[in-house]
Amino acid sequence: MRTITLPAPDDVDAWRVAARALIAEAIPPDRVVWQVGGHASDLFADADATTPALAPAPAQMRVSRAFLDLAGDAALHRDPERFALLYAMLWRLREQPRLAEDHADPLVRRLDGLVKAVRRDIHKMRAFLRFRSIDDGEGARYVAWFEPEHHIVRANAAFFVNRFGAMRWSILTPEVALHWDGAALSEGPGALRGDAPEGDPVEEVWKTYYASIFNPARVKVGAMLKEMPRKYWKNMPETALVPQLLANAQARESGMIATAQDRIGSGAGGNVEAAWQALRDEAAGCTRCPLHKPATQTVFGEGPLDARMMFVGEQPGDQEDLAGHPFVGPAGQMFDRALAAAGVPRAETYVTNAVKHFKFEARGRRRIHAKPDAGEIDACRWWIEQERMLLRPQVTVALGATAARSLFGKTMTISRERGRAQRLPDGGEAWITVHPSYLLRLPDEAAKEAEYARFVEDLKLAYAAAGA
Ligand code: URA
Repeated sequence: MRTITLPAPDDVDAWRVAARALIAEAIPPDRVVWQVGGHASDLFADADATTPALAPAPAQMRVSRAFLDLAGDAALHRDPERFALLYAMLWRLREQPRLAEDHADPLVRRLDGLVKAVRRDIHKMRAFLRFRSIDDGEGARYVAWFEPEHHIVRANAAFFVNRFGAMRWSILTPEVALHWDGAALSEGPGALRGDAPEGDPVEEVWKTYYASIFNPARVKVGAMLKEMPRKYWKNMPETALVPQLLANAQARESGMIATAQDRIGSGAGGNVEAAWQALRDEAAGCTRCPLHKPATQTVFGEGPLDARMMFVGEQPGDQEDLAGHPFVGPAGQMFDRALAAAGVPRAETYVTNAVKHFKFEARGRRRIHAKPDAGEIDACRWWIEQERMLLRPQVTVALGATAARSLFGKTMTISRERGRAQRLPDGGEAWITVHPSYLLRLPDEAAKEAEYARFVEDLKLAYAAAGA
């Protein structure tokens, strides 16, 4: 029996080094006991209580990025079996390199569950942590208390450094404390709730934060507040911003609305970027409809934030759900081919979906795409509206009926509406065309070719309208 002692409960790098060495020696999972700082994860194992000196393993076994991402998140769960489960998976990946895609497999399902719980906890810490101000002798220091469910604090540190880099702050948690002095991050021992100051959260910090995640142009304040769980927002200082944000929104509505390029050119690009990142982080923990439960992750939009053209698909497919990126599977390849034929550089466009979680029916080990219903499209509309408000693209292209329904808020007939500019309820310009997977499904080669040519024509028209 091998006992592996990892130095810290979130030390996935140490796990990786150890796991690679064990694989190189062909030690099966049932011969390994994983422990952290002396607590065996398998209490009943007959451990020999020695930690082997682990030489760096030869890099014989290659694992996918998807597995490394999964391991990075699952390792942060508080489940004492997490490292053993990950090693069991790694062991099986030798024979089944695509195992991570088999979400019906009990081990994969269990690890998927750990990953989701960890991602939700990361999101909760970002959304609901509150700073209080103290004077620590060197000036103002902002101190927050947070009790995570999992070992996520270190993994979340970069987020807080980016968001609050200009302040001096400490985040106290039972396991570890993070301290930022404006230039460097340091760690201290775990703390008690009583170590953190009491009193009201610091209003200015949260106002700045929330002003950056609200789009000042056309914010839907009511919807934003609805999105926040009530128990959190009743005492939130940022709600004091609402009247001002509304006033800004109305002023902007009645005057000209700057394009994204103007805003970025005028130095507001950082704000758009921060707001988009905050939005994407929020979406990662979205539970607005039940589709988040079986899906692996939220697949958010991607592309430059000053893109003049935004494409909206239906929902992520099987491959997008695993990769976390839109339009990377078979429909994405068809889309890329058509974009190239139309002379549209995808890298200059923003690509997203009407529904951000993969909806599927499990048939044995396969996950078969299922169409999102009106309730799911409506529940997810919040995100696409926010994306559009932030980017304000010149032209939005609806790929298929689901995207059109999401953008227009009603059913649109593609055959009738394609090929000409449409006005969206918010005043923006949209074009409607078919979804690339429609082309993939056509059984007749001649029809496929003709439909593909029409699709390319639609893309050319929309691109010309975007004036890109
Ligand atoms: N189909 C979509 O609509 N979106 C994707 O991201 C992939 C397939």
